[in-house]
Amino acid sequence: MCVQLNTLLILGLTVTGGACMFHNHHWGEWNDSQLQPTIQKLMKGYNRYLRPNFNEGPVEIGMSLDIASIDAISEINMDYTATIFLRQRWRDSRLVFPGNESVSLDGRLVSLLWIPDTFIPDSKRSFLHDVTVENRLIRIFSNGTVLYALRITATIACNMDLTKYPMDRQVCTLQLESWGYNLQDVVFYWTRGNDSVKGLDTLRLAQYSVESYYTTVTEAVYETGQYPKLVLHFALRRNVLFFILETYVPSVLLVVLSWVSFWISQSSVPARTCIGVTTVLTMTTLMMGARTSLPNANCFIKAIDVYLGICFTFIFGALLEYACAHFYTMEHQTVGDIKREIQREFNETNGNASLPIIRSTQPNQSVEISSTAEETSQQPVRKEANTPEGSKEKIADHECGLSSVKEAARRAAAVLTVENPHNIDRHARTLFPLVFLFVNILYWLYYLCL
Ligand SMILES: *[C@@H]1O[C@H](CO)[C@@H](O)[C@H](O)[C@H]1NC(C)=O
Ligand SMILES: *[C@@H]1O[C@H](CO)[C@@H](O)[C@H](O)[C@H]1NC(C)=O
Ligand SMILES: *[C@@H]1O[C@H](CO)[C@@H](O)[C@H](O)[C@H]1NC(C)=O
Ligand SMILES: *[C@@H]1O[C@H](CO)[C@@H](O)[C@H](O)[C@H]1NC(C)=O
Repeated sequence: MCVQLNTLLILGLTVTGGACMFHNHHWGEWNDSQLQPTIQKLMKGYNRYLRPNFNEGPVEIGMSLDIASIDAISEINMDYTATIFLRQRWRDSRLVFPGNESVSLDGRLVSLLWIPDTFIPDSKRSFLHDVTVENRLIRIFSNGTVLYALRITATIACNMDLTKYPMDRQVCTLQLESWGYNLQDVVFYWTRGNDSVKGLDTLRLAQYSVESYYTTVTEAVYETGQYPKLVLHFALRRNVLFFILETYVPSVLLVVLSWVSFWISQSSVPARTCIGVTTVLTMTTLMMGARTSLPNANCFIKAIDVYLGICFTFIFGALLEYACAHFYTMEHQTVGDIKREIQREFNETNGNASLPIIRSTQPNQSVEISSTAEETSQQPVRKEANTPEGSKEKIADHECGLSSVKEAARRAAAVLTVENPHNIDRHARTLFPLVFLFVNILYWLYYLCL
């Protein structure tokens, strides 16, 4: 269509050779003293393959943007998709026409004019909207200024640092560069500095809010030369509230739930193991769920992973605490049982021999136990000297072996200061919440203030 129109116009010009015939026959309805010269100027001697000021200085191209929407900010692909109105304006002295009005041309007539070869270097995919016609606008002012606007949707790469996810702040850029014209031919500038970009303030994003933005003018350096480049930087702050509700509160509640076990009697094994195992499993599910929308190929540790890890450790610790407490209770009981049994045995056989064992049953005196152990080890010698009776000797030997085992167990227990296994629960009731609170303070200080 464009080519047809072009050839038609050029044919008309060359055949008739004048403006008189031109407007009388073909463009009768455009009988306007201001529009007619524009069309003439467009057609006559205009070479769209040559930039304005061809043998002079560079063309200055002013740009401004309207961000219509930012649809998808993807952490997995590390990009965002934006729909933008890109406006470029430059002065083409070949298009000057008398008067002070402007002419808006059909978008298809763009192919008759020289236009800048701007491109978006970081875009992965982009397209110009074409419903119902190609969304572009061209307007020529009488002083030769050309305004060229486009509506583009582009998916643009944005390198994200997710180590503080979800308390992170991402800085993305939108870059505009000239594809073929270097700095000697074309110069880019933002038409109104930082105000050249509109629409970011009123943007509503699902997970982010636009914190700040500014524009810069730089140059891109490639092997083939230096090219003009404009950059829009904008900082996105993630709304952490969603994650607080979705992940942080449930995991804190799970940790608190795991502490419930400390208030349940140690004898109710099913209740306490059930709480422990259930909380561990639920936490695992929560951890899996928190990872689904994130790139997990590169193994950096995100803030949310750290928090879930902390919660998991506490929940697992609560389960282990029960295992320990239960183990020591059993230990306590069995040692006590054995002592009581042996004592009963000795009471039946010989009243005197039970004396050292009674002393050894007294808790928290490992020194005395060791002395009784020496005593008992000396006893058989004395007994052997005095009354070499086989049965008594056997019992004494048996007691000697047991006492050394008891002593070892006692010492191990004394290291862990487990006098009463129920103390483990009592200590855990204050220790777990305090340590969790402390770790939380450190975590939030680190991730919110640093
Ligand atoms: C166009 O305008 C000129 C004067 O400006 C007039 O002479 C001519 O008749 C007009 N043509 C038509 C088709 O209206
Ligand atoms: C444009 O021209 C008209 C008349 O030629 C004049 O009245 C008007 O003020 C001008 N506008 C500007 C912006 O110069
Ligand atoms: C050309 O005219 C437009 C509209 O009147 C104005 O905005 C622009 O500044 C002018 N350009 C020059 C170079 O005078
Ligand atoms: C644009 O904003 C940035 C950051 O706020 C600032 O450093 C810069 O000076 C501003 N530029 C202009 C032209 O106002």
